[in-house]
Amino acid sequence: MTQVRKAIIPVAGFGTRLLPISKAIPKEMVPVVDRPLIQHVVEEALAAGINEIVLVTRSGKSSIEDHFDAHAELEDALASKGKDELLATLAAIAPPELKITSVRQPNAQGLGHAVYCAAHLLGQDEPFAVILPDVLVKPQANSSTCDLGRMVELWDASTAAQIMVEAVPQEDVYRYGIVDCDEPSAGESADMRGVVEKPKPEDAPSRLSVIGRYILPYRVMELLRDQPPGAGNEIQLTDAIDRLMQEGKQVQAFRMQGRTFDCGHIEGWLQANTTLAREAGYDL
Ligand code: G1P
Repeated sequence: MTQVRKAIIPVAGFGTRLLPISKAIPKEMVPVVDRPLIQHVVEEALAAGINEIVLVTRSGKSSIEDHFDAHAELEDALASKGKDELLATLAAIAPPELKITSVRQPNAQGLGHAVYCAAHLLGQDEPFAVILPDVLVKPQANSSTCDLGRMVELWDASTAAQIMVEAVPQEDVYRYGIVDCDEPSAGESADMRGVVEKPKPEDAPSRLSVIGRYILPYRVMELLRDQPPGAGNEIQLTDAIDRLMQEGKQVQAFRMQGRTFDCGHIEGWLQANTTLAREAGYDL
């Protein structure tokens, strides 16, 4: 049994890059093929053996929690009409092992602050995953490899923090956390020397970007408690991870094997829909 039982999913962002879609609908509820983005992400956590989800949310986003809640009226209506397939579709959203808790982020002070809002829900020294829901991580077509599951395995074997990375073009490094490490082979990890949030291309230590999947020791929460604002004047998770390394804790970059779709902006979201819909057999 893995030590990593909880995944923190920050969902309090405004989703400005998806406007006007995301004005009244949380960006996490935007559909990708046949289900909302957040359902794909929760399925990824479940596939990795992580059953406890902590949503860090805010007002106006309760449809995310509703999506995973029972809907007795609808279930009764479907049952009375014998619509068993649709009932099974509903049941699959929240299998019995899935436990969802939500906490509020009272004001937007950055990703590090959002993650810290869930600190009190962790046990003493409990490691945790962080999953950023804008980016879908999917196995390659015709593969079932679970990159997040592999990170959990690597944590369990070593208790080295695991940060999922993929290579991006040099001109795009300013959008991401960029790690300083020798390039790991796909499906494997390599020790990191540092990580910087949104560097200028000329200052970037590599082209390996942080995708938004992390397995972290509890110590990161203690570091976040007094983490000063960094890039963009926000409290950055990246900065706390960098301090963790400065303390001598082993942090590794995990090179993913699958594919990413950045659904936080229109083009990436369209790409996810067209690619994944074709693979699911829809005739577009
Ligand atoms: C966040 C992280 C960044 C990471 C990125 C991945 O940035 O701070 O390190 O590379 O997610 O999407 P954001 O996109 O919230 O600005």
